[in-house]
Amino acid sequence: LKIVRRIAELDHFGRGRVGFVPTMGALHDGHASLMRTARGECDVLVASLFVNPLQFGPGEDFERYPRAEANDSEIARNAGVDVLFIPTVQEVYPRRSTTVSVPELTDRWEGAYRPGHFDGVATVVCKLFNMVAPDVAYFGLKDLQQCAVIRRMVEDLNIRLELRFCATLREADGLAMSSRNAYLTVDQRAVAPLLYRQLLGTATAIASDGQDVDSALAEARMSLEMAGFVPDYFALVSTDDLRPLDEYSPPASLIAAARLGTTRLIDNLQLPR
Ligand code: PAF
Repeated sequence: LKIVRRIAELDHFGRGRVGFVPTMGALHDGHASLMRTARGECDVLVASLFVNPLQFGPGEDFERYPRAEANDSEIARNAGVDVLFIPTVQEVYPRRSTTVSVPELTDRWEGAYRPGHFDGVATVVCKLFNMVAPDVAYFGLKDLQQCAVIRRMVEDLNIRLELRFCATLREADGLAMSSRNAYLTVDQRAVAPLLYRQLLGTATAIASDGQDVDSALAEARMSLEMAGFVPDYFALVSTDDLRPLDEYSPPASLIAAARLGTTRLIDNLQLPR
């Protein structure tokens, strides 16, 4: 594993297919699984660790976001990463930079609750794509809207690379793996898997039992509140562009964001086609 901190050192990866897994560090098995998938499909595997200040709003967790470079390097090495790019904020943003903004797709859901977040994501991902110049880049489907935003940006800006979106990895009790799970207290951690259980229950209600979408979603929000969550949204959307659906029409996904104390969890579930 070669650790690279400067953009100028990213130049030569040799020949073959270059895979790229961008991350904000605090790596868990979800990231490791993306890396292992990429390892199996690419000749050279690059990953990045960069907590991107541009995608955090005021009052969000930029300062306290977990940073664990030594452990992350170990995980990356074990997952077969060849080059781990760990730039400083100054290296990535030597000045106020040009920003990339993906319209419409970012108006709702995470975009509405986290204004500016997706401009930050699109900007840094576009910059990282240009720095690393990968043939294929890997993202986790846990951030479904992020995947849609990146797909749209790549299409709109004619960025020449392939995108691979990989299934969410879950803990044994169903909780989607996330670096932010580390914030949960023991009591919150016990409640957290209910979010996924609710997604499963609502998916069955809508897709199998034919329950009316509005009432199924309202019941879901109420159950989450009763369990101690503060839901930001729990919605049925079209999987491709995250348009809200008031009737079940595949490809559809349930998406959810809910807070437990100061920790915000997001998750989603694709309904059967
Ligand atoms: O999903 C993430 O970890 C981040 O949003 C990403 C894609 C690495 C951009 O900072």
